[in-house]
Amino acid sequence: MNNRVDNVKKAIKYVTLSVCAVFTIVIVLFIIHVVNVQKYNEEWKTVSPNSSATSVLVDIHSRGGATDSWEKADTGLGTKLNAKIYDIVITNNAHSYIEDWRIRVNIRENCYINNGWCGTFEIHQFDTDGNELTQTVDLRNFNYDDLKINYHKAGQDLLIPLKDGDFLVYHPNPDESTGELPIKGTDEYSGTCTSGVIMYSLTGNIDFSDYEMLYKLNITIWDGTKGRLFIIAFAMLVISFLIIGTIFLVSVHFEGRLQSREKMLTDVFNICCGLADSRDYYSKGHSERVAGYSKMIAGKMGMDKGDCDLVYNAALIHNVGNVFVNEQILRKNGKLTSTEFEEVKSHTVRGAEILKSIENIPLAAEAAMFHHERYDGTGYPKGKKEDEIPLIARIVAVADAYDAMSNDRPYRNKLMRDRIREEFINNRGSQFDPEIVTAFLDIMGERNL
Ligand SMILES: [Fe+2]
Repeated sequence: MNNRVDNVKKAIKYVTLSVCAVFTIVIVLFIIHVVNVQKYNEEWKTVSPNSSATSVLVDIHSRGGATDSWEKADTGLGTKLNAKIYDIVITNNAHSYIEDWRIRVNIRENCYINNGWCGTFEIHQFDTDGNELTQTVDLRNFNYDDLKINYHKAGQDLLIPLKDGDFLVYHPNPDESTGELPIKGTDEYSGTCTSGVIMYSLTGNIDFSDYEMLYKLNITIWDGTKGRLFIIAFAMLVISFLIIGTIFLVSVHFEGRLQSREKMLTDVFNICCGLADSRDYYSKGHSERVAGYSKMIAGKMGMDKGDCDLVYNAALIHNVGNVFVNEQILRKNGKLTSTEFEEVKSHTVRGAEILKSIENIPLAAEAAMFHHERYDGTGYPKGKKEDEIPLIARIVAVADAYDAMSNDRPYRNKLMRDRIREEFINNRGSQFDPEIVTAFLDIMGERNL
């Protein structure tokens, strides 16, 4: 049972470590993703007439209404001019909003800019020597005295001359009520923004096909395939941690109950052990010591902690059958008669009889029944030999013999350490399993027994 609990705890540990490793990788990838999203949001993207991208579109065209174009004869320039309203239409087909934008229009023919809305116009004029005059103007709200660029006043109308090589940069109005900033994505609204400008020219059909729009798109970290994958990954990690936590809590609860049951079982074993040892003065503490040596041997032979504990418990009550043996016989100092010896030998079978009902520790009955068997088959009660004798019984036999030799008996004093080693070596393969003797001699050396 302990093994099963240990295995569950090991499994929880490995699964937790694996999930933590995946979590760490996801977090690192997520941080990289966040940095990339920030970089993406900060970079200016470009749209021009040659762009193949369709996420953001620009269309500059003249309005076609009856009042959207007119002729201006009183220009004061010695010529009539044709005026038109041109719409600058930005379409945002992306799901995210455009956080900032501007559009540069390169002038390819002589014309005049008269008015525009709702943002400001950054006007760049060049003279024949290449000298530049530039000024940013709000054409709906300006003061003539503030104009530093070339302009002409035709009645009430402002005419700012532009020619091939000059250019305009339109900056949208940051006031959200104008609808120019931000330009919402298709998920939120129409995703379009329309600005306007009034231009004068001789023909009234100004070519606006040479432009370049710069814009910043604001995507969130959860947008796109990567963003959705991270949502799924985090959701799965949270679920994984919840499952692991639940299994951990259940295992802790289960382990607590198991420990309580094991404590109860250990108490019963200790009572049985005490009863068995109490029948003979010289056996006091014998079973507990044998259990301890048996556990050491089991560990030396590579058994895991759970199996070592089982070996300990089984060895602890290997002599429980003594409670059925006449106390006078157990304490007799002289030589036993054959009848008395048969009575003593019966403690193996009688002990096994009552222990075979302990299903969780079948080793207990095996230890009780066979711990007086000898490796060469001359022991009792069944005369089994070598591997016919259960491993637990071969282990207990060595531990039992060591404890007997290392303690005083009514008929002899305890043996010295070297003599005990000699006994084990001499009886290796006859009384004892050679492999177990080797293990125990190592233990004696290591622990200075
Ligand atoms: Fe015994």
